Amino acid sequence: LPDPDVVALTDEDVAGMLPRPAAESDKYRRGVVGIIAGSDRYTGAAVLSAGGAVRAGAGMVRFASSAEPVALVRARWPEVVTTVLGAEPGRASIEEVGRVQAWVLGPGMGTGPEAHALAAAVLASDVPVLVDADGLTIVAADRDLLRRSAPTVMTPHAGELSRLLGVPRKQIEARRLEHVRQAARELGVTVLLKGSTTLIAEVGRPVRAITTGTPWLATGGTGDVLSGIAGAFMAGGLSGYDAVSAAAHVHGLAARIAAKGHGPGEAPIAALDVALALPEALRR
Ligand code: APR
Ligand code: MG
Repeated sequence: LPDPDVVALTDEDVAGMLPRPAAESDKYRRGVVGIIAGSDRYTGAAVLSAGGAVRAGAGMVRFASSAEPVALVRARWPEVVTTVLGAEPGRASIEEVGRVQAWVLGPGMGTGPEAHALAAAVLASDVPVLVDADGLTIVAADRDLLRRSAPTVMTPHAGELSRLLGVPRKQIEARRLEHVRQAARELGVTVLLKGSTTLIAEVGRPVRAITTGTPWLATGGTGDVLSGIAGAFMAGGLSGYDAVSAAAHVHGLAARIAAKGHGPGEAPIAALDVALALPEALRR
């Protein structure tokens, strides 16, 4: 890369960042991540984000959403502690979820008034929040939600960054480095811009470039898995900058492992395959 202020990460750099359980660890000290994802319209995002967090090694995953995504998450990931929100009309309370060390907010959650109220409640908390997908659409329309006391991390693709900055997508794609830096500066958050090369920007730090992935990652739902991985790492005590860097690195590696299967060459993967390959990627 020509820019001296852009750095690549090695497997060793990332291994040095990853949270590891100490002999005396318990699940709470390892980190509890709260996930707000899914809706009755988009249920898969919930399962995939929760799966990313479970397979990345969260001490505990707490998940809250409407009834249908909760039922699916319970069926697929029995490890996850779930809460059904909005049981009463117009009500969205996250108090019942319990204490968490980091939140993941947004995949498939919708953008209506109830989703907005939920996003506001999560962003009012005093723990780090990762905002993705529909959560990004909500904050793009209401930037006041970003005035908070704890760190915020965003994980947009080019289209989502376009909405956040009010800059055409084509322009973002033509000058990705410039725009990821602009977003970090303007929004005052850590920004991970997705793509064949994933870029991570934070004011005062070098931009990190992650290239561990494969084009087979360009399939629905892989971004949702990434959000859960990064949430688990944030709950495990990593800064937002390190958490999304390490998450993108192992997410790409897991995708390559899944795409290779047991033979030479690569084959298509499903987003869930990426979550399932995470332990092997972390081992490496
Ligand atoms: N090479 C390597 N990695 C890639 C490539 C590529 N050519 N294309 C995409 N990826 C990676 C991205 O870096 C990212 O990690 O795949 C992932 C895709 O994530 P998203 O764009 O968030 O896609 P998805 O998971 O389908 O999102 C689900 O949420 O963000 C919304 O609009 C999105 O409706 C969609 C939903
Ligand atoms: Mg996405």
